[in-house]
Amino acid sequence: MASSFGAAQVLVASNRGPVSYEVGEDGSLRARRGGGGLVSGLSAIGPEAGALWVCSALSDGDREAVRRGAGEDGVRMLDIPADVHADAYNGIANSVLWFVHHMLYQTPLEPVFDAEFRRQWASYETYNRAFAEALAEEAAQGAAVLVQDYHLTLVPGMLRELRPDLRIGHFSHTPWAPPEYFAMLPGDIAAQVLRGMLGADRLGFLTRRWADAFTACCERFAGGLGDTAVGVHGLGADADFLRARSHEADVEERIVALRAEIGEGRRTIVRVDRTELSKNIVRGLLAYRQLLDDHPEWRERVVHVAFAYPSRQDLAVYRDYTAEVQRVAEEINERYGTPGWRPVVLHVKDDFARSLAAYRLADVALVNPIRDGMNLVAKEVPVVSDGACALVLSREAGAHEELGEDAITVNPYDVVETSRALHEALTMSGDERADRTKRLAAAATALPPARWFLDQLDALREGPVSR
Ligand code: G6P
Repeated sequence: MASSFGAAQVLVASNRGPVSYEVGEDGSLRARRGGGGLVSGLSAIGPEAGALWVCSALSDGDREAVRRGAGEDGVRMLDIPADVHADAYNGIANSVLWFVHHMLYQTPLEPVFDAEFRRQWASYETYNRAFAEALAEEAAQGAAVLVQDYHLTLVPGMLRELRPDLRIGHFSHTPWAPPEYFAMLPGDIAAQVLRGMLGADRLGFLTRRWADAFTACCERFAGGLGDTAVGVHGLGADADFLRARSHEADVEERIVALRAEIGEGRRTIVRVDRTELSKNIVRGLLAYRQLLDDHPEWRERVVHVAFAYPSRQDLAVYRDYTAEVQRVAEEINERYGTPGWRPVVLHVKDDFARSLAAYRLADVALVNPIRDGMNLVAKEVPVVSDGACALVLSREAGAHEELGEDAITVNPYDVVETSRALHEALTMSGDERADRTKRLAAAATALPPARWFLDQLDALREGPVSR
């Protein structure tokens, strides 16, 4: 029924949208815009392209904005009941699918797929259906729909049934689990996730490794990919934005403050992460402690600048992990610190300007995740760094596929190897550091966000229709 079609030509769907709202004391709504690859990608296609972003209302302010009909042009927020959203987002997306793809379970005791899991799974279906229905309502005939991430794995299949005329893409910003690990999911759930994804015409992944893992899961549990195409799009850093933003006044101010915290003439080992279980911040601290033990000559001459910003604090296991990061950092400071030297400078309050300041000051960047879809910090530091920066990089970060040659590679579980890598990075000659930083920055910016997004859109529009 052509009359029921919407007007949007390009639709993006993600749990977290490009804007969030807060209710001010005077009752007015304040909008805050986010950044990231999708935001710059969508702005690259221009306002006349008929784009619409469908996302969840996440905060009370967001829900209020939906109620008042105060949303921004180009954004449709779905006011999914808070309990359904919590089950889908915290219960399934963050506690099951994220854990499976990042291989985070301590398997002697978890996961346990019990009746409670089944109840939450039903909410995940409801939440996915709300997205599929909104997209079906808003999309123009033959429009392109780009669905994002593990929150919305069922959407492509559901949308395909509602609107067979659409071009449907899905992009995973995380790793994908290898088949042996994916097989932990109950068989019917594993099949449902794969069938949901395979409802898309085209699936995108950040690296060849994750795309191959998905294909292997399909071969093993879904009889293959069928007509769905799989592509790799390695999101790069946004050099122009980062270089300009990192020289604004607020960043200069943060540099002065950070220098004072670090102390005159000291080297810096910098890390900036959201406090995700997968980021391996604790082992990073342990490797730093090992460095101070094995190389006492570094004491008072180096500072580990660690920014660990809050993430998903509704989950107890995230809160415990955050506490452990703080405990280990304090332990190191108590044991090794001197009146004039604080070995670890830990900040937990999110501050983008201060992150950029740390990037500029970094002598060494430590990026050691146990598993990571890409890791943009590894790509951003070489672009922004003032004086060239050596990169210690986990082989398990997606970014390693592109940056491995000029980084110092580590096994993220091996704290001794990581401490040696830190020493090697700190002692690397200035010339070598500069050469490597130049090559790292070139590789890191090979596919800027706008190009990354447009490539996917072109491939989806021009590729064969899967059905
Ligand atoms: C990381 C992942 C993304 C994911 C996002 C969700 O950045 O790389 O794949 O969509 O987390 O974060 P949130 O704060 O919304 O749970």
